[in-house]
Amino acid sequence: MKKQGKSTDEMSKTASQVYRVLLIEDDSASQMALQPLVKEENVVCDYKFAGSVSKARKILDSEKFDVVITDYLLGDGTVFDIFELLTDTPVIVVTGSGNEEVAVKAMKAGAYDYIVRDPESNYLKVLPLTIENAIKRKKSEDKLRILDSAVSNANDAIIILEAEPGKMRGRRILYVNGAFTRMTGYTFHEATASTLRMLRGPKTSLAALDKIRVALEQFKPVRVELVNYRKDGSEFWVECNIVPLADKNGLFHHWVSVQRDITERKKAEEEREGLMKEIEAMNADLTELNQELETIGVERTMSLMALTVADRIRNPAAMIGGRCKRMLNNNNISPDMKEGLGNIMEGAEKLDKIVKDFETLLNERQYKFKYEDLNRIVEKVVSVIHKEAKVKGVEMKVTFSNGSLRMKMHKDLMRVAVFHLIKNAFEATSEGGRITVKTFKDGDKVILSVSDSGYGIPEEDVEHVFRPFFSTKERRFGMGLPLVKQIVSEHLGNLLIDSESGNGSTFIMEFPTSWLDNNPYDR
Ligand SMILES: Nc1ncnc2c1ncn2[C@@H]1O[C@H](COP(=O)(O)OP(=O)(O)OP(=O)(O)O)[C@@H](O)[C@H]1O
Ligand SMILES: [Mg+2]
Repeated sequence: MKKQGKSTDEMSKTASQVYRVLLIEDDSASQMALQPLVKEENVVCDYKFAGSVSKARKILDSEKFDVVITDYLLGDGTVFDIFELLTDTPVIVVTGSGNEEVAVKAMKAGAYDYIVRDPESNYLKVLPLTIENAIKRKKSEDKLRILDSAVSNANDAIIILEAEPGKMRGRRILYVNGAFTRMTGYTFHEATASTLRMLRGPKTSLAALDKIRVALEQFKPVRVELVNYRKDGSEFWVECNIVPLADKNGLFHHWVSVQRDITERKKAEEEREGLMKEIEAMNADLTELNQELETIGVERTMSLMALTVADRIRNPAAMIGGRCKRMLNNNNISPDMKEGLGNIMEGAEKLDKIVKDFETLLNERQYKFKYEDLNRIVEKVVSVIHKEAKVKGVEMKVTFSNGSLRMKMHKDLMRVAVFHLIKNAFEATSEGGRITVKTFKDGDKVILSVSDSGYGIPEEDVEHVFRPFFSTKERRFGMGLPLVKQIVSEHLGNLLIDSESGNGSTFIMEFPTSWLDNNPYDR
């Protein structure tokens, strides 16, 4: 849409603009001439007059002005004395004609503009415009100063690039702020003699660079995350935003790139991903463990059955077989009886065979009890749980006995038992807590203790915790500790608790060191 003229709102804004001006000169004629002229120019100036440096000083002590207009030479000083009185107000210097050199000197010393006084006082006509320009310039300078300080003090690296690639491969860097130097190690001069290529290296993603290249070719903003390299060769991750800058005619003249160091974030992300993977692996481990446990459970039932069946059948069958044999040796029995006894003998022999088969099964299970190092079992379980403990903020401390703790055990069952104790400790402990696992020999006992700084067990619950289905946790089976107790007793050990509500718990497994003599499955 074509742009219309100024809106009434804009007009009224301009009309109501009143500038406070201090005029320092002693020519009262030009003072009189000022008021009507400025009104014609649609700029309203509220003038104050001072005839000397000392009078100006007095006024400036208590009042603020948008602009100060002063003669170069004043009765009691010069424009330089006026500069000393002002810190932040633009000064316009008025000189006599033929005195432009003086005016240039004043400009160098900080004047905003100068006007040459002519005998016909024509200079007064341009005064309103000069005043307005000086104020506008001051305002945009203030704005620039703020922007400049924001850019140079920013924590993110800010880079300005030329719009199109020149002789260098890539767009030349025209400006970098202090954060860029802090982030990359390259000085302003090193950076401005180069392109962004100096930050790239082997781990910089080619896909990200391609995305940048396409965006730059199409003059479109782009945002990517990529690895950059410092001057010393070290890597860091940045989030890089590149935006084209266009002038008011829509022509692109520069690129601005803002780069934020996201190394810490990336590290945390990678660590989280790593931990997630480990937790997934741990879950897989747990599932495997549970499957193992099921198999063990089935096997165990079969073995116990075998034991019972063997015990109950072996003797009666042997007895029947023996009696039949004796009876068959008796010459007085009829052929019918002989046949019948022969059948019974056959049956007894079959039973004996079944008993032997069961015993073989039992023996196979017995092979699962082997000499293993308890420390290795604990180590394996801890390696599964400690990552999860780290995520939760629970410290895990493990102290192994000096030397190995070889004992006869069913290692899968033992693993399950150790796992449940540490898992319970982990569940009872909140962030900042600690779990301590220790293995050691105490006389003729092998000890494994698991302590935690968790919520502990109330006195009235201690006697119930080994009961199947006793649980104070939501949606849990309460099968952990009964299983642990069962496993420990299968290893002829004891399971002890030392716990107090609010004061953590210690679970201790005690095993005899002399196994071969006592193993129930060795008989
Ligand atoms: N280290 C411990 N600190 C505090 N309380 C514990 C600890 N270990 C066990 N308990 C208490 O004993 C109860 C029974 O534990 P158990 O391991 O048998 O079952 P669970 O952990 O509740 O459920 P499951 O193990 O079947 O998932 C728990 O619910 C808890 O109240
Ligand atoms: Mg449990």
